[in-house]
Amino acid sequence: SPKENTIKGLIEKQVSAEVYALLLQIGSLADEHDIHIYLIGGIVRDLLLNRPNEDIDIVVEGNGIEFAQLLEQKLGGQVKVHEKFGTAVWTTPTSLKLDIVTCRTEYYDSPATLPIVKASNLREDLRRRDFTINAMAIQLNKNNFGLIIDYFQGQDDLTSKKIRILHTLSFIEDPTRIIRAVRFATRFNYVLAKQTRNLAIDASALLKQVSATRFLHELKLLLSENAIISGIDMLNELGVWKSLFGINVTEKQLDIIRAVKGRNEEDPFVYLLALIFDKSNWKHLVSRYALTANNQQLIRQLEAMEEINWDSKATLSELHEVFAPYQNNNVNLFALLTQEPLLETYIEKASTLPVLLTGKDLMANGIKPGPTYSDIFHQLTCLQLDEEINTKEEAHDWLLTLHKKIR
Ligand code: CTP
Repeated sequence: SPKENTIKGLIEKQVSAEVYALLLQIGSLADEHDIHIYLIGGIVRDLLLNRPNEDIDIVVEGNGIEFAQLLEQKLGGQVKVHEKFGTAVWTTPTSLKLDIVTCRTEYYDSPATLPIVKASNLREDLRRRDFTINAMAIQLNKNNFGLIIDYFQGQDDLTSKKIRILHTLSFIEDPTRIIRAVRFATRFNYVLAKQTRNLAIDASALLKQVSATRFLHELKLLLSENAIISGIDMLNELGVWKSLFGINVTEKQLDIIRAVKGRNEEDPFVYLLALIFDKSNWKHLVSRYALTANNQQLIRQLEAMEEINWDSKATLSELHEVFAPYQNNNVNLFALLTQEPLLETYIEKASTLPVLLTGKDLMANGIKPGPTYSDIFHQLTCLQLDEEINTKEEAHDWLLTLHKKIR
């Protein structure tokens, strides 16, 4: 039987008065219909950790959809049913959203003797989940309100700060859990339990079979939790990058990734790219993850920039001539990925050039608006990069001579 204790007081202290009242009402309504009902998953974990969590997940032993409809009848709001998954989302009159799932009560023939036992499926529902700390429930029925149901020692793992899977096939069934494990470990500053860690290493190659969309989604979650650097590092220790791309992440690469992060890059694809860019077959490795037109353009431009041969003694204006056709952002990234000092100087300088002439100045000099404007600005940028023109005055003088030529 599971370890049981009740945290009614803790719940009352931690959730808003509104949510607390709602949970009590839900428990009473379930009692009226003789249904067992529980809070489940992340919110249970976070209640025990004293961390805020607004995602209310509820599991009903019985028909979750019917129960959601009862809630709507009794308390108002609106129910959206997902028949296929046996789930419903109930939006309360005050716009709280509750996910309500079904966990059916099934009848099993008991192995030895005659009686047919009614086995609760709550344990099975919990057992299908990812980690012990996410596999606890809290009963909401009135008599047991606040009772923690913890079949897999999730509370012990919260205390000993461990991420632990529930069964040996967990990562094989869902390899994205490897990335989730890393995410929870970084979020809470926990470690993977020894066997969990070993099984994650064994299953790391299966991440190849995960769709690019799901893979990038998991990376995006790491990013949104500000855990991308430590996450990439931990995934490296689990052999994930070795399995996926044949690489071991070095300190130098982590530095590059830190710099990508420093640019507030929000696209997880760019982080993948940064991981593998120094491999000669980077394009081949990263292509399947380039899901957006932007990503594909980035690949094309990086490829083209790689082909550019420039002299290590090139002037900044010479560099500008060859790099100006590419998107600014992509040139910046290219410089960051290659760590070419000259290119970095160019970018630094190009991004801080003062504006010496505007369109108005050109018009005031009688130059008709048109394509010549961008030619003139391009030339001016080149002259500024080489420090041949440094002030507005010099720029205006230059414009006068130029103007004569144009006319
Ligand atoms: N889950 C799982 N396997 C996954 C994803 C989710 O078993 N690959 C289970 C976990 O038990 C989790 C629940 O589904 O608690 C809800 O998933 P999610 O909302 O992603 O996780 P939370 O634990 O609520 O995490 P967070 O705090 O990030 O919202």
